[in-house]
Amino acid sequence: MKTYIITGGAGFIGANFVKYMLATYHDVQLIVLDALTYAGNLGTIVHDVDGKCCIFVKGDICDSSLVTGLFEKYPVEVVVNFAAESHVDRSIENPRLFLETNILGTQNLMDVARKFWAVGKDDKGYPTWKEGVRFHQVSTDEVYGSLGATGYFTETTPLDPRSPYSASKTSADLIVKAYMETYKFPATITRCSNNYGPYHFPEKLIPLIIKNILEGKKLPVYGDGKNVRDWLYVEDHCKAIDQVVRFGRAGEVYNVGGHNEKQNIEIVKLTIDTIRHLMETEPAYRKVLKTDLSNISYDLITYVKDRLGHDQRYAIDPTKMKNELNWAPETSFETGIVKTIRWYLENQNWVDEVTSGDYQKYYEKMYSNR
Ligand code: NAD
Ligand code: DAU
Repeated sequence: MKTYIITGGAGFIGANFVKYMLATYHDVQLIVLDALTYAGNLGTIVHDVDGKCCIFVKGDICDSSLVTGLFEKYPVEVVVNFAAESHVDRSIENPRLFLETNILGTQNLMDVARKFWAVGKDDKGYPTWKEGVRFHQVSTDEVYGSLGATGYFTETTPLDPRSPYSASKTSADLIVKAYMETYKFPATITRCSNNYGPYHFPEKLIPLIIKNILEGKKLPVYGDGKNVRDWLYVEDHCKAIDQVVRFGRAGEVYNVGGHNEKQNIEIVKLTIDTIRHLMETEPAYRKVLKTDLSNISYDLITYVKDRLGHDQRYAIDPTKMKNELNWAPETSFETGIVKTIRWYLENQNWVDEVTSGDYQKYYEKMYSNR
């Protein structure tokens, strides 16, 4: 039995990771540590799959005594750090919170793990580590900055973050890398492109667009809509992380991407087309519509003021994941987007629950000056 702490397991990717791990393994104990910010919700936590359960602990990754208590209570061998402030637009409004959680939270988790995992020293004075332990940092392609019309991010592309969010994630990566060098700390980092799929909080492009279409609201497209993102179905990302945690080399960075570049406007149009098609061919879905079917058209698209410092294009080269760990995305975008839209149509209760707090206030503020 291997015991994992999964931070941020009540958020989008963390919850999908918990679900994947419970469905795949019988010999893992999963402890979800999550502060339940606006992005983490009780309805998002995957408590059990096929009778297998996770343990949920509400708390902050910056809280040293709380994390220490978890290491004292459980034989933790793996930490997978998903917990973060993750939304670029919010980082432009309030950078400080991003620095606290994303940088200091990561450092705190590593410091506690160091204390519990070090078993001695080698002849040069480097710590030696308990067999089988691993810290995994879930990072992002945004640390590499922005691409022009051509080229891909590889693991050796210079770091060039441009938003407070990506600067905080880059800083966390640098702290992890510093611990790898200074203490030979057994850690890995993955840098992934844009995920989509179930449990994605409806402030991010795809779930926001789905929500607005169903309500007949305007679809805000930043700038000219031609910025490019490289989309990956969330389950493929979870499989990649699992491969890296189990078989990746400590001290390494791995890029994870879907080879699926799309302009934002293409995504918005495809989402409109897909929802319309599903409503026409499967009328049972119409019960979730809060608008007339005839309103679901490109007329909803509204070009709004651009995001400050908006990165133009991201595209990942995942060759290292393929060559070293035999990982490749399994879900095509065409399949993944339909699965995702169906999930939202069938889980409107979840959408209502996660948007019941301050969401409406956030939404109005965010879009009122665009
Ligand atoms: P999310 O915002 O949906 O979830 C983040 C979770 O972290 C939430 O459950 C929140 O409650 C929790 N959290 C926030 N601050 C915390 C704290 N101080 N202590 C404990 N828990 C806290 O984010 P996501 O989209 O699931 O992203 C997860 C990770 O993956 C992040 O580190 C993000 O940078 C990275 N990432 C995301 C994407 C993407 O497309 N979503 C792509 C690449 C990398
Ligand atoms: O690339 C990985 C990153 O992807 C992750 O590290 C981040 O945590 C994650 O949030 C995501 O960042 P983006 O900024 O790319 O995602 P977002 O969904 O916010 O925006 C996707 C694109 O759509 C981006 O070019 C901005 C644009 N957009 C977004 C929103 C919310 C719009 O045009 N309209 C919108 O309303």
